Amino acid sequence: MRTLWVEASPKQEHSLSSALAEAFLHAAPADVVGEVERFSVWTDEMVTFGRDAAFAKFAPLYGERRTPEQKQIWSKVLAEIERVRSFDRLVVSSPMWNWHVPHALKAWIDVIVQPMASFTVNERGEHVGTLGDGKPVQLILTRSSVYDGSRHDLQDFQRPYLEYVFTMLGYTVETLVFEPTTRWTSEEREQMREAALERARAAGKML
Ligand SMILES: Cc1cc2nc3c(=O)[nH]c(=O)nc-3n(C[C@H](O)[C@H](O)[C@H](O)COP(=O)(O)O)c2cc1C
Repeated sequence: MRTLWVEASPKQEHSLSSALAEAFLHAAPADVVGEVERFSVWTDEMVTFGRDAAFAKFAPLYGERRTPEQKQIWSKVLAEIERVRSFDRLVVSSPMWNWHVPHALKAWIDVIVQPMASFTVNERGEHVGTLGDGKPVQLILTRSSVYDGSRHDLQDFQRPYLEYVFTMLGYTVETLVFEPTTRWTSEEREQMREAALERARAAGKML
């Protein structure tokens, strides 16, 4: 049993979403999460999906041969997908950044979402995920404001996007949302943090 923790906040020990993911994982039964690998999407080792990868992605669909540079980046893309496939469970912790996810998380998603390698298309032209195989993904999401639909100027593209992408890849998605995370005094911030950690631990225990 192996769990991949995908960490989208760059704030490390100052990150609330990362602290919540740690609390969730520590509280979860050991045999359910097994060995946990912490993977920050901000690592310098991240595969960069740029020009060569963009051409490599469509080359087979257009009946074109990949250049050596395209082949090289494509083998890294496939290796990353197979690395993710080798885990039994995913935990994705992420803050909201400008109503969406931090760009480093989106950049990683751009690597792992690939036709033929992580999803396919059925006879009706619908996407069918082949990466998740029904395995669980726990999303742990933080944001400063409250996104309950009561204010039209506060639109949430973080939660629906992540739920859509991981469901599309074939995972079974569970979501924990923590909001509002901004408090004006340090006492209020500490209270919010303690209550959030308790909620994360309780959810972990339920696994
Ligand atoms: C660059 C940046 C953009 C942000 N954009 C939003 C936003 O659009 N909506 C929101 O509610 N909070 C926003 N926030 C606040 C964070 O989502 C919030 O503080 C969160 O709890 C941080 O989680 P972390 O400590 O794990 O990084 C933003 C924070 C940063 C640093």
